[in-house]
Amino acid sequence: MISIVIPTFNEVKNIIPLLKTLINIVTDFDYEIIVVDDDSPDGTSQEIDKFMKDNKKVKLITRVGRSGLSSAIKEGLIFAQGKYLLVLDGDGQHDPNFVLNMIKRIKKNKVAIVIGSRFLNSSRLEGLSKKRSLGSKIANKIAGASLSNNYSNLTDHLSGCFCLNKEMTKNLIRKIEINGFKFLYELLSLSKGKLIVEEVPLIFKERRYGNSKLDLAIVWDFFISILHSFTLRVIPRRAISFGLVGFTGIFVQLFITSFLTRILLIEFYDALPFAIICAATSNFFINNQVTFRSNRLIKLALLIGFFKFLLVASLPIIANIGITTAFYKYTSADTFIAQIAGIVIVYAWNYLASSSFVWNKSN
Ligand code: GDD
Ligand code: MN
Repeated sequence: MISIVIPTFNEVKNIIPLLKTLINIVTDFDYEIIVVDDDSPDGTSQEIDKFMKDNKKVKLITRVGRSGLSSAIKEGLIFAQGKYLLVLDGDGQHDPNFVLNMIKRIKKNKVAIVIGSRFLNSSRLEGLSKKRSLGSKIANKIAGASLSNNYSNLTDHLSGCFCLNKEMTKNLIRKIEINGFKFLYELLSLSKGKLIVEEVPLIFKERRYGNSKLDLAIVWDFFISILHSFTLRVIPRRAISFGLVGFTGIFVQLFITSFLTRILLIEFYDALPFAIICAATSNFFINNQVTFRSNRLIKLALLIGFFKFLLVASLPIIANIGITTAFYKYTSADTFIAQIAGIVIVYAWNYLASSSFVWNKSN
């Protein structure tokens, strides 16, 4: 049996035409189609519900209070009964006519993954703007570099259209991290070059209705995952993200101290506490948007979280001021090195304490 998993969020006008086309294409197979919808406000689930009355092989998982593309795919795949598992977008951008070709290839002995690639010579890329197409190509190059050399012949590690041999991939599927869009990339990364992966060309069409859900947070999440792969998946993703955000804080701090001391001629000792508090504040808001996005605080909780964060951070802030001032006073007159020393020492504390106390995460 073939299980086709389709994630949807606000695809009310796209999903039914896609289901009809797909059903015609796979009609000779033993198949099931599993749509995983995150309770789309546009009524996608309700449309599918109606459609299912006459199409018993279509199943629907409506998730309430959970969201995200990778997470929806994972849930659909774990639910699926088929020997072969095929994933494609619910907006019709992946031309369903390639499905048969993918099924044919996955049935070949030992092939664990067949990717529908947007970047083979015979692929067609109609649905990406120039900017996104360039971004996607660059992201693919970096992604490729972070994966095993065995996968160096692949052209699309980020495709949303792929087919899996369930037996060969089911253990890895369970381990996939569910943030963002990068399900296939994660699977390739986890498999460490041990699987046979093939590609077939795909036509990536233009979206008919609605908008893409890919945003800056998803791009950020993807780059964190690449760094995670480069560290051989040892350093936790959140620690990497927290570190990078902290890195932006360094610039905020250095910029403010130099502005205050050089332009406003304020003493370094007086400028430093203010600069550190500004950096901590900016770190807090950026971390809330990216590092802890899945536990993101809003409205009143955001305000309370901010005070909690200041509380958690005040210890290192005081330590930071103390260390930096001491460094500055006793070792060298170099304000830059003094500040870096303070920053590095408090990073670990800040990460551990704020992830458990402010955003309630266990790592
Ligand atoms: N259930 C669920 N939950 N589905 C989602 C979510 C979500 O949070 N976010 C997106 N989807 C569904 C969309 O409804 C659509 O069917 C599919 O996932 C792809 O989402 P799009 O928003 O259309 O993505 P895209 O076209 O910009 O991105 C495509 O290219 C990326 C690589 O550049 C997709 O193929 C991605 O999978 C791919 O990574
Ligand atoms: Mn799309």
